[in-house]
Amino acid sequence: MQLLIILGIVFVAYVVWRYWALTMGAAYDPAPMDKVYKMLTIANVGSNDIVYDLGSGDGRIVITAARQFGARAVGIEIDPLRFLFACFMKSISGHSGRIQIKFGNIFKKTIADATVVTLFLYGPTNNRLKEKFSRELKPGTRVVSYVWRFDDWQLVDFLPEDRIYLYKL
Ligand SMILES: C[S@@+](CC[C@H](N)C(=O)[O-])C[C@H]1O[C@@H](n2cnc3c(N)ncnc32)[C@H](O)[C@@H]1O
Repeated sequence: MQLLIILGIVFVAYVVWRYWALTMGAAYDPAPMDKVYKMLTIANVGSNDIVYDLGSGDGRIVITAARQFGARAVGIEIDPLRFLFACFMKSISGHSGRIQIKFGNIFKKTIADATVVTLFLYGPTNNRLKEKFSRELKPGTRVVSYVWRFDDWQLVDFLPEDRIYLYKL
């Protein structure tokens, strides 16, 4: 009986840990590394870029943008444990000078200096971000989304098999 209760608590804790961020915009689900490379490649990320990953999870997109593409990169993450883990990953990446991980809500942090925005969130959340993007982002900023498209935005490029979609403001 006691074992069942412990297993139940562990199960509930796991579900909360995995899915609570869905109420804020998207549940945690790391993008596979091959998709991360393809997202940054399709957006033509280079050393002059400032890449923002909205909902940066373990920091894999920002770290890859800095390490393999030479960009400066900023991640914004609302989950405290993932934020701390990403800070740790940044500190051992060897490129921490070019990476910033910010703790907080993507709807409340400014992203005005981005030249590239990456997203792996959730369809309704993408669409809620459109107004923020048109308010803050400069014309020409590339927005690349994994899995979810933006309703009524015109695609610039896409990888249908990878479900990677590129837009330009
Ligand atoms: C599907 S995961 C993607 C993680 C990472 N970008 C990747 O591709 O591996 C979505 C992330 O967004 C975070 N998130 C969801 N809503 C958020 C919000 N309103 N502000 C900041 N982060 C948010 C979640 O905690 C989660 O880590």
